[in-house]
Amino acid sequence: MQESLPHPRRHPGDAHRRGGALDTASVTAVILAGGQGTRLRPLTYHRPKSIVPLLNVPFLAYQLALLRQHGIRDVVLSCSYMVDEVRETMGDGDRYGVRLGYAVEVEPLGTAGGVRNAVDLLGGRVVVLNGDVLTDADLGAMLRFHADRRAAATIYLTRVPDPTAYGLVELGAEGRILRFIEKPDPAQITTDTINAGAYILERRLLDRIPGGRMVSIEREFFPGLLADRIAFFGWVADHYWLDIGSPAKYRQGQLDLLARRVATTVSPAGALADGRLSAEGISMAPGASVARPSLIGAGSRLGAGCRVGPSAVLGPGCAVGAGAAVTGAILWDRVSVGDRAVLQDCIVASGARIGAGAQVGAGVVLEAGAVVADHARLAG
Ligand code: GTP
Repeated sequence: MQESLPHPRRHPGDAHRRGGALDTASVTAVILAGGQGTRLRPLTYHRPKSIVPLLNVPFLAYQLALLRQHGIRDVVLSCSYMVDEVRETMGDGDRYGVRLGYAVEVEPLGTAGGVRNAVDLLGGRVVVLNGDVLTDADLGAMLRFHADRRAAATIYLTRVPDPTAYGLVELGAEGRILRFIEKPDPAQITTDTINAGAYILERRLLDRIPGGRMVSIEREFFPGLLADRIAFFGWVADHYWLDIGSPAKYRQGQLDLLARRVATTVSPAGALADGRLSAEGISMAPGASVARPSLIGAGSRLGAGCRVGPSAVLGPGCAVGAGAAVTGAILWDRVSVGDRAVLQDCIVASGARIGAGAQVGAGVVLEAGAVVADHARLAG
């Protein structure tokens, strides 16, 4: 099922080169946003992974900003799980300076099936992003690499310190892909580059993806390209890259954003610790303190003598009790923290209530509406 996207148009300020130009305004993008996000449960029981908040902004906003920065304004969201929530949050894309279309799967079609399902909304050259990758990759450089080699498909590859946990991609001359090595033994490791979940595909390749069933881009579509000797390349780059699909990495991504380790044009929602808290309707009782780097959501109330930060993110409308301490923790909207409670390096979803004197430790993830009893101790 697809919904129309206005025909791609060029806008003033879109990135393109004149004369032998690379015209990114004619490139369309599809974001794979249909996964169930099982690793990120229980957060994803009530909100799909693609729109979990990072610094109080839905995750997809970072990907749309990256695409827009590189001149790509026509984007299709390939959805399957909790589609209404995605649509309600992202709308027609106007707020993000892009035009959004939706390709909706009745049954999940997998990562390649999700791209194929969007085909009628896509142009000749397509950027595909996994909807859980936080990156500041230079997509313009990747598109040039692809065009210069007359590639049919290009994968963005990133280097990792411990390649054993991933599928590795081995390259030959000029970056041509030679083979994929799934979760290698140490003896098999010949490279440290892994698939970073961003691709450029010529639209004609999408005809190769069978319809009506689940198809994996990594396990079925890419090996098929290799077998048929299609012009298939890997673009290796050392930009910031993180798969936010597990609780630890979801938290890490926000700490990295707070520390400005990721280049993005997205502004956090709320007040940074060094900003004007009162401008966001945040109230601070005497003795309350906020340590940098931290972000406090609009309308939050900080009780007497409480300590928030460093590295804390509070969503809008949170309440932190007197003498409580919140460090390294990610709180979604409307979380209430009782007097003298201690929260450290944990994640707490919308509307949860932490009792007075409770302790919530590193690695704990609390789902929306959770209630923690007074003086309870939770460890990850
Ligand atoms: P886990 O269950 O935690 O592994 O997460 P996931 O369901 O998101 O799977 P995975 O991380 O492997 O998916 C990579 C990307 O593809 C994510 O952005 C998913 O949203 C997306 N994705 C996974 N399966 C589908 C699908 O069947 N259809 C669509 N449209 N997207 C999918």
